[in-house]
Amino acid sequence: MTGKICGTGSCVPKGVWDNRKLMELVDTSDQWIRERTGVARRHIAEKGETTASLASQAALFALENAGIKAEQVDLIITATVSPGELMPSVSCLVQKKLGAVNATCFDLNAACTGFLFALNTAQAYLAQGIYKTALVIGAEVLSNLTNWKDRSTCILFGDGAGAVVVSAQETGKFVQITHSVGEKGDVLTCTCRNQKIYEKRADAPETYMQMDGREIFQFAVSRVPEAIEELLKREQMNIGQIAHFVLHQANERIVRSVARRLNAEQDKFPTNMEEFGNTSSASIPVLLDELNRKGMLKRGEYIVFSGFGAGLSYGASLMEW
Ligand code: ACO
Repeated sequence: MTGKICGTGSCVPKGVWDNRKLMELVDTSDQWIRERTGVARRHIAEKGETTASLASQAALFALENAGIKAEQVDLIITATVSPGELMPSVSCLVQKKLGAVNATCFDLNAACTGFLFALNTAQAYLAQGIYKTALVIGAEVLSNLTNWKDRSTCILFGDGAGAVVVSAQETGKFVQITHSVGEKGDVLTCTCRNQKIYEKRADAPETYMQMDGREIFQFAVSRVPEAIEELLKREQMNIGQIAHFVLHQANERIVRSVARRLNAEQDKFPTNMEEFGNTSSASIPVLLDELNRKGMLKRGEYIVFSGFGAGLSYGASLMEW
């Protein structure tokens, strides 16, 4: 059996912060942010908008798109590094909201590579015949982990959620490659903001996301094309056979560089970080939903997903749409 995506959905907070808003918070400019990252705006959660509420809405849209009832879902996996609470899991909160009473639910943390790892995990269950229908979600309220006084990070991130329904089919293709490099863990960190120990030091920098941007940039532009090439080589396929490369939306320059290194056509690499910034594990499914709703994906086409993130971690998946 092979997992096939049969529905997509997404949900972002109503509030939009453009680059001018960030100029009120840190010493930066609209021009610098656009040129260095490709980001113009990001959606930021307000009171009442949580990781679970965004995830639930995205999941509901995905189920509607797939024409599947919540009770038919056997498995819910949510990739997130920014759950509203440590317990219960976001997936269990989604289950409750949707009435997906038959689903087994858990969350997964692989930072910005989270959606990719969650999709692969769901695929493994479906391929084994353990479950038939899975909801895979990437959901983040990164604004809770963002230091709004740190211009080297706050310009990048945004909040949002994307979801896909994956169902087990007799035919199709789904293959993947994943890697983790724990040795480089210090490059991108965030200590737990929920721990009591930090209550008295709520503004301690280590409780927000901290990163070595240049190091991550170098990591991404070398490892992402490597992973894609490794996967295609293993499958005896070539770049020309891939219709769309749906990459983690961290930085426009990273996506363009990956396309160049692969000698692939730039227009096969859609981007939407201009509108949403880097939404970590939500970025791939939010972009996929956009492409799906615009009618840009055709059944039988091959799509490559690829991402990288804290851990560090990275990987690529190839799927027949
Ligand atoms: N506004 C204006 N100037 C700035 C800003 C800002 N917001 N931030 C940094 N600068 C300055 C720096 O101080 C530096 O000035 P200097 O030359 O006088 O020292 C100059 O701009 C260049 O700084 P760099 O850090 O070299 O800029 P770079 O081109 O590398 O861009 C960026 C920085 C955008 C962070 C880039 O490195 C990047 O996108 N890296 C990848 C980060 C990433 O993807 N992180 C998420 C990983 S996924 C996950 O798991 C969450």
